[in-house]
Amino acid sequence: MRMYDLITKKKHGEALTDAEITYMIDGYVKGDIPDYQMSAMLMAIWFKGMTDHEITELTKVMAKSGDMIDLSAIAGKKVDKHSTGGVGDKTTLICAPIVAACGGKVAKMSGRGLGHTGGTVDKLESIPGYQTALSREKFFDTVNKCGVSVIGQSGNLAPADKKLYALRDVTATVDCIPLIASSIMSKKLAAGSDCILLDVKTGSGAFMKTLDDSIKLAQTMVAIGELAGRRTVALITDMDTPLGYGIGNSIEVMESMDVLKGEGPADLREVSLQLASNMLYLVGKGTPEECRTMAEKSIADGSAFETFCTMVRAQGGDDSVLRDYTKFPQAPYRAEIKAERSGYITKMNAEEIGETSVVLGAGRETKESTIDFSAGLILHKKYGDEVKEGDSLVTLYTSKESALADAEKMYREAIAIGDEQPVKEPLVYARVE
Ligand code: URA
Repeated sequence: MRMYDLITKKKHGEALTDAEITYMIDGYVKGDIPDYQMSAMLMAIWFKGMTDHEITELTKVMAKSGDMIDLSAIAGKKVDKHSTGGVGDKTTLICAPIVAACGGKVAKMSGRGLGHTGGTVDKLESIPGYQTALSREKFFDTVNKCGVSVIGQSGNLAPADKKLYALRDVTATVDCIPLIASSIMSKKLAAGSDCILLDVKTGSGAFMKTLDDSIKLAQTMVAIGELAGRRTVALITDMDTPLGYGIGNSIEVMESMDVLKGEGPADLREVSLQLASNMLYLVGKGTPEECRTMAEKSIADGSAFETFCTMVRAQGGDDSVLRDYTKFPQAPYRAEIKAERSGYITKMNAEEIGETSVVLGAGRETKESTIDFSAGLILHKKYGDEVKEGDSLVTLYTSKESALADAEKMYREAIAIGDEQPVKEPLVYARVE
């Protein structure tokens, strides 16, 4: 078999056989197939697509390129959750303890921030002492004791995806449904949970900018999950506007704790409850309505918040910061941006706001950058809200005073104030099962 012939085949829109996909991925991981040939293949896939069978096969081979985690040491049904990434998306911090408090098991490996989107591991590491690297035994033990453990991805989980993702990032081939679906689902299959809840974001701050593409991506991933024997459901949720009011690592932890304490923003609470209810449904805790009631109760009786605190302590973290937010390291510089005119917020570009948070220090400019956990933004007005000239729109937080001027300029460009009140988008567009 020759990679040259496989590239030619795909260039003409033909489907690759199972054996060809295995040859290609194994050869690429081993280093026998060079980046320049794989780049040509990725671009051919970008233009010509893949059949459902090819995508499923690609996913399976990518999953098996590293460790396939066996979670059988954890009692009960395990449910995983994956978000395709967003700005202010802190729902894992809310859903995971809700599901655990209601008797589900969440053994979750999360990622770091990528570009303008935040990552759960970075958020958790903003809690002083919290360890995101646990041994396999400690990870299983934590889930058995607390019902939940969230850690970072181990180095050998789907190494084919790691290599391919880095190549896609520099060859303009990230935005391709077969490649995104196989990338995400290879990691989910390798991570070993029985059930998978996918949160497919749609809108300006998401990989998928249109609802049609988001639904296509969700259907592709649900089909892969089901074919691999994992119960899989996807929700399509809005990422045109950031979720909640806080963007930045410790800022998002505090806002998530607000929701777990029965407070916090209504949009964040609603999306989190819908995700958590579906996770509970997947592990067989009842009908969707019963699961919703159960999830709400775990917030009202404080059990979800206490479950989160227990997990934090089990992973070496100081949970006193979750009860007294002033104990979090505080950003030394802050600035308020005020409205220059009255009207309504008619545009709020989530991606540009995510990029503003990176400039403030909340994300990584390069792979080597260190994160400023206290940096970020707290929005005071959201899409559709009425504002008066001089009203505070947002507060910026940073440890780099010099970043404030650029961040203010970026924020002002990311939003618009107009005369007509716009119609708000739904929070959840669709459910794919
Ligand atoms: N997240 C992933 O893990 N992979 C992609 O391709 C896109 C988003």
